[in-house]
Formats: sequence, C-alpha cells, structure tokens
Amino acid sequence: MLELLNHVAIAVPDLASASASYRALGADVSAVQRLPEHGVSVVFVQISNTKIELLEPLGEASPIAKFLAKNPAGGMHHLCYEVADLDAAIQTLSDNGARVLGEPKIGAHGKPVVFLHPKDFQGVLIELEQA
Ligand code: CO
Repeated sequence: MLELLNHVAIAVPDLASASASYRALGADVSAVQRLPEHGVSVVFVQISNTKIELLEPLGEASPIAKFLAKNPAGGMHHLCYEVADLDAAIQTLSDNGARVLGEPKIGAHGKPVVFLHPKDFQGVLIELEQA
C-alpha cells in the first residue's frame, strides 16, 4: 500500500529561521505556502530522494501550536507516505481498526491527504497522500 516516502515533517517555531538553517546547508527551500484549512504555513526542502516539510503554526487553532508548546525548539511531527489509491487505503485501514483522523483534505501538493492516529503507528503521526 505504501509507495514512496513523500516527506518528513518538522514543526518549527520560526519558519524563516528554519528555512535559513537549511539554505545554509545549500538546500533548495521552496517559497512559503499558507494552508489555513490545515492551520500551518509550510516550506519544502528538496532532498534528492525525498522532501523535508517545515511547519509553522498559522492561526489560533493550529494543531502545530500544541506540539510546539510541548516541544518549544521544534521536532519531528509526521511522516508522509504516498499511496496509489487513498480511498482504498482508508477503507483497508478502517477495516483493520486503524484510526483515520477526519476526512481527506487537499494538502500542500494539491492532492488529497489524510492523517492516521499516532497510537496506531508506534507513536508517529502518519500522513497519507494520494500519489
Ligand atoms: Co505533511
């Protein structure tokens, strides 16, 4: 079911500063995208075999705000895997008792994404993205 690792996401308290850290390493860092429906501003750091997503809270109800309250310096937030058929993946996961968090929403790449409960995946929040 899991195809490629699309990205590793890191929550950061300051997106400009985090972007500068990666640019200092010579990395290609995208422009900032604001995703109000997800409560985040993001940039993507392009690595040859995957991407790093840097997430900063956007708005008061941001899910990232709570994470940063517990991890003020930032930290790894989720892994995103591509799946060939998101609806089929959600059905299979639900049938197996995994907790799918809400309905699919359009993610940062313009494709549907959904999140899976970290308690079902060894403490790691998982994002699935339609390939
Ligand atoms: Co993500």
